[in-house]
Amino acid sequence: MKRVLTYGTFDVLHYGHINLLKRAKALGDYLIVALSSDEFNKIKNKKSYYTYEQRKKILEACRYVDLVIPEDNWEQKILDVQTYKADIFVMGDDWEGKFDFLKEYCEVIYLPRTPDVSSTQTKDYLNKTI
Ligand code: CTP
Repeated sequence: MKRVLTYGTFDVLHYGHINLLKRAKALGDYLIVALSSDEFNKIKNKKSYYTYEQRKKILEACRYVDLVIPEDNWEQKILDVQTYKADIFVMGDDWEGKFDFLKEYCEVIYLPRTPDVSSTQTKDYLNKTI
């Protein structure tokens, strides 16, 4: 069984996220999403519209996602790969090259981002129009 691991905030889930999750799952049999906690978002100067628990529920309802775990810091990735026995680490190509240090522990794949959609763009648009 091949286990795939990916990371993100996944706020106001959109079709770019779904495209990423679908392709990530297709690389293996079991997809684990490490979901940025509200505290970690603060560290990254990000604020999500939905809370961690809300974003977790939404992801758990997605057919491609098998397990959601928290992402609390930048340093946990090697330990996560080992703990969850991940064979493949996947991210969108906005992160191209950034996680190559994980190649020592598993396969690292960057998938092309879906153009013209992001959580920030969606929130900005809704803020302006509502
Ligand atoms: N992603 C993607 N295509 C998009 C948006 C996101 O493939 N159009 C991928 C990212 O590359 C990442 C995952 O989805 O692997 C989670 O990304 P996240 O940062 O949570 O989503 P964004 O919409 O990029 O959020 P933001 O606008 O806050 O940066």
